[in-house]
Amino acid sequence: MGESKNLWGGRFKGEADSAFVEFNRSFGFDRRLFEADVRASLAHCEGLVGANVLTRAEGELIKNALQTIRKRAGTDTSYFDELPSEDVHSFIEARLVQLIGDVGRKLHTGRSRNDQVATAMRLWLRDSVDALKRDVRDTQEALLNLAEAHDRAVIPGYTHLQRAQPVLFAHWCLAYFEMLLRDYERLSEIRRRVNVMPLGSAALAGTAHKIDREAVARELEFESVSRNSLDAVSDRDFCVEFASSASLIMLHLSRLAEDIIIYATNEFAFLELSDAVATGSSLMPQKKNPDSMELVRGKAGRVFGHTLALLTTLKGLPLAYNKDMQEDKEAVFDTFDTTSAALKVTATVLRNTRLNKSRAMKAATGGHMNATELADYLVRKGVPFREAHDLVGHIVLRAIESGVELEGLALNELKQFSPLIEDDVYQSLSLEQTLATKAQTGGTSPERVAEALAEARARMSHE
Ligand code: ARG
Repeated sequence: MGESKNLWGGRFKGEADSAFVEFNRSFGFDRRLFEADVRASLAHCEGLVGANVLTRAEGELIKNALQTIRKRAGTDTSYFDELPSEDVHSFIEARLVQLIGDVGRKLHTGRSRNDQVATAMRLWLRDSVDALKRDVRDTQEALLNLAEAHDRAVIPGYTHLQRAQPVLFAHWCLAYFEMLLRDYERLSEIRRRVNVMPLGSAALAGTAHKIDREAVARELEFESVSRNSLDAVSDRDFCVEFASSASLIMLHLSRLAEDIIIYATNEFAFLELSDAVATGSSLMPQKKNPDSMELVRGKAGRVFGHTLALLTTLKGLPLAYNKDMQEDKEAVFDTFDTTSAALKVTATVLRNTRLNKSRAMKAATGGHMNATELADYLVRKGVPFREAHDLVGHIVLRAIESGVELEGLALNELKQFSPLIEDDVYQSLSLEQTLATKAQTGGTSPERVAEALAEARARMSHE
C-alpha cells in the first residue's frame, strides 16, 4: 500500500476527516475514465513539450510511463485497488510519480483537474455515444427483419386500446423504426457538441503556458476547442443532452415493450416470445412471463431519473467548477449502461418473437374495424362525411344487435339505411380494400409499406 498524499499539500496542516475523505472520493466509479484520462494526458504532455515547458526527453519519459501505467491497468486486476486515491486523475498522477519520480510532477503544469475531468468525460462519452448508436442500429435492424419476415401480416391497430383500423404488422414495426431513427439522429447531433475540447482552460481562467490547444485537440480527434474557459470547466450540458436523448430511447423502448407485453397475453395472443427471453413462474406451471420487456419498461424510470438528477445538480451552481459536478459521473455511466443493455435485450426479444398470423388476422377482421370504410364508401357516393358517420353508426349498432360483422348484413338490410348502398359495398368492406386504400405517403397500404421498408433498409446505411 503506497501512502497517498493528497494533491493540495502545502496549504494544509491538518489531516482530513476519514468519513469526509470517503465522501469526497470518486475513484470507486470514475476509474471508468482511466483510458480517456491517460489518452488526454498523453496529448497534454505533447502540448507541454510544444510549449517548451517540458524538454523532449522529459516528455518521452512521461509518455513512456503513461504507457506502462496503461499496460499495467489492462493486465493487473488489483492495480487500481493498491493505491487509495481520491479520483482517477490523482491515481494516474500518483502512479506516474511512483514510476519516474519528480518529472512525473511536471505533467500537471497548465492544467487543472477541472479541465482534465471535463476532457475525460467528453472523450468517454464520445465513444459511448458511438456505441449507443450501434445499439440503436441493431435494434432497428431487428425491427426491419421482423417486418420483412411478415410483410403481408395484418394486426388490429388501436386507439384508446380499442380496436380501431387494421394495419400491416410491418407498419407497426416501422413505427418503432421511425422512433429509433430519430434517436439515432439525435445521438449524431449531440455528438457534435460532446466533441469539443475543454483542455487548456485549466482551473477556470485559461493557462499562462503557450500550449497549442488546436494541436492537442487534433491529437485527441476533437472537432473544436472550447471558446470560453469559465464555460468549458463548468459546462455539463452535454451530459444532460446525453441523458435526455437516452431518456427518449428508453421511452420508445418502453412503449414497444408495453405493446409486446399486451400482444403476448392470452387475451391477445398475437405474439409469442421464445423461451430464450421469457421466464416461468415458481408457482404456476402454465406461466410464460415477458420479464425481458417488463424490465426494459421498468428501467426507463431510472434513466429519466438520471436526467432530472443532472438538471437538479447543475441548476444552482455558480461559475465555474464546483464539486457538485462530480455527481455527473454515476448518472451518465448508468444512463449508458442501462440504455445500451435495454437496446440489446430488445433486439434479442425482437429476434425471438413469433407472430401468430392467423390469430392477428382474425382479430383484424373482427370488431367492425371497417366501419370507416363504409363511411368513406358513402362519401364517394356524395354523402357528406358527418352524415355518413352517423348513418354507419346506426348500421354498426344493427350489426352488433344481429351478432354479425358489417359485411354479414344483407344488401336489402343495408339499403334500409341508405339507398345509395349497392352491391359493390362488399368489395369496399374487404380487408384487402381497407388496406389498399390507405395509399397516401405514410399510410398502411401494402404498396406504401413495401416502399417504406425498402427506404428504411436504404436509410440504415446512412450516417
Ligand atoms: N473528481 C472530480 C470530479 O469528478 C475531479 C475534479 C476535481 N476538481 C477539484 N477542483 N476538486 O469532478
